Amino acid sequence: MSEDARPSPPRAEVGRVLPSPLAELVAADPARAQDFALRVGPLYANFARQRYDRAALEGLFAAAESAGAVARLQALFDGEIVNVTEGRPALHTALRGDYSSSSVAHQAHAQALQARARMREIVAALEASDVTDIVSVGIGGSDLGPRLAADALSGAAPGRFRVHFLSNVDGHAALRILAGLDPARTAALLISKTFGTQETLLNGAVVRDWLGAHAADRLYAISANLERPAAAFGIPPERILPMWDWVGGRYSLWSAVGLPIALAIGMDRFEEFLAGAAEIDAHVLRTPLRQNLAAWHAATAVWNRNVLGYATQAVLAYDDRLKLLSNYLQQLVMESLGKSARLDGSAVEADTVPVWWGGVGTDTQHSFFQALHQGTSIVPGDFIGVVRRDAPYADNHRALHANLLAQTEAFANGQASDDPHRAYAGGRPSTTILLDALTPRSLGALLALYEHSVYLQSVYWGINAFDQFGVELGKQVASKLLPALAGEVEADDPVTRELIAQLRG
Ligand code: F6P
Repeated sequence: MSEDARPSPPRAEVGRVLPSPLAELVAADPARAQDFALRVGPLYANFARQRYDRAALEGLFAAAESAGAVARLQALFDGEIVNVTEGRPALHTALRGDYSSSSVAHQAHAQALQARARMREIVAALEASDVTDIVSVGIGGSDLGPRLAADALSGAAPGRFRVHFLSNVDGHAALRILAGLDPARTAALLISKTFGTQETLLNGAVVRDWLGAHAADRLYAISANLERPAAAFGIPPERILPMWDWVGGRYSLWSAVGLPIALAIGMDRFEEFLAGAAEIDAHVLRTPLRQNLAAWHAATAVWNRNVLGYATQAVLAYDDRLKLLSNYLQQLVMESLGKSARLDGSAVEADTVPVWWGGVGTDTQHSFFQALHQGTSIVPGDFIGVVRRDAPYADNHRALHANLLAQTEAFANGQASDDPHRAYAGGRPSTTILLDALTPRSLGALLALYEHSVYLQSVYWGINAFDQFGVELGKQVASKLLPALAGEVEADDPVTRELIAQLRG
C-alpha cells in the first residue's frame, strides 16, 4: 500500500498513511460503525470500512476548509463563474430549487420553471396521441443521465411509452433500434446542448429520414442553440425546448434534457426526481462539512486517491435496475475530474481522478470480483443497496442483501490461510450507500450526492469540474480524417495512412 504514493496537497495536510489494517481500525473503535455513518432523506451512507481514523478524517475536513470548500459551494449555488475556463456558472442546482439570494441563480430557476411547464405540455400532448415509442437521440450528457433514470425508474409494468436511446454513431445502433419500430407510432427527441455533435446530427438525420412524412410533427429538439434544430431539421419553435450555457451537459438531465425520463415515468414522477436532488442540495449547502454527506464522500475519494494511491474506484450497485449507474458515473466523475491543470493553469501536484468502473452485484461477483479480492491492486468500492423490495421474490431479495453485506465484510476483513492461494488479505475499503427504496426521489438524491462530491473533489484539487477540453482533440482529428477515409486526401500520420488503407480494403 502506497507509503510512496505521489505527494499531494491533501496528503501533506493529513500527513500519514495509517499503519493499522482496516479490521484493526474497526476493532479499536467499534463506535465508528455508527459514527462514520450519515442519513440524509432517502439515503444512508456508511464509511466505517474506509481506511482512515478519526484524526485522518479531521485532517481531510480541515484540508477541505483550507481549500475554501464552504465558500466554493456557496459560489456554485449563487451562480458565480465557477467554470472559469469557459466563463460560465454551473447552475444545475437552480434546475431543482431556488436556494440563493443571487439574482443570477434566481433568474436561472425561473427559466427552468418555464421550460418545465413547456415540458409538461409536450408530455401531455404525446400522452394524448397515438405514439407508442420514443427514440431519444443524443450522446454523453445528452444521453447517459436520461438513459439511466428512465431505465432504473420505469418499473416492471409497461409505461405509457417505450423509450429507446440512440447514441453511438455506429449505424448498427440505429438499425437495431429502428428495426422493431413503426414510423407512424414513433416520436423522436434530438437532444444536444450544442447541436453540433457529429453523432447526434448523423443519427438525427437517420431517424428523421426513417420517420418520413411523420417527421413533420413527430420531431422534437432540446438544445441551448435554438436556431440550429430549426435550420438543420426544420423543427418549429413550439417543438424545441431550451437548455442553457449555465448547465453543463453531464449535469443537464434535470433540465428539458430529462424529457425522455418524463416520458418514461410521467411528469409528476420526474418532478419527484428533481425534489430528491433538491433535498440533497439543501443538505449540502446548509450543513457543516463534518456532517455533510457530500463532504464525507469527497474526503473519502481524495484519501483513497492521494493518500492510499488507489488508481481505480468501483461502483457496485446491488440492484439490477441500477445497471447503467456506472456508465453514467464514468462521465460525471471522469469528464469532470480528469484534469491536470489547476484553475490558474498551474500543474496539479496530486493525482486527480482515478478510473471509475463497475457494474451490478451479484453478476460481477462472477466476473471481476476475483481480482478485487485477491488481485495485487486494491480497488475501493462504493456499494449501493436498496432496502425496499419491489419485486415479489423475497428470497431473492434477501440473497441480494446477504451478498452485498458478505462482499464488503470479506473485502474489509479477509481471511487468513496457510495456503497462499486460499488466503484473503482483506484491508480493501468500501463505502455502503443504502437507498430506502428505488424511487424517483431516492435516485435524484443519489445522483445529486455524486454531483456535489465531484465538485468538492475538484475544490481539493483546485481544478475546474465543468469543462472537458480533453475530448476536443479526438473530435477535431476525426473530422479531418473523414476526407482521407473517402479517398479524397492522404492522412498526414503514417500509421493512420496504413490503417486507412486496410479500412478501405
Ligand atoms: O463528450 C463531450 C461532450 O461535449 C459532453 O460533455 C457532452 O455531454 C456530449 O459531448 C454531448 O454534447 P451535446 O449535448 O452538445 O451534443
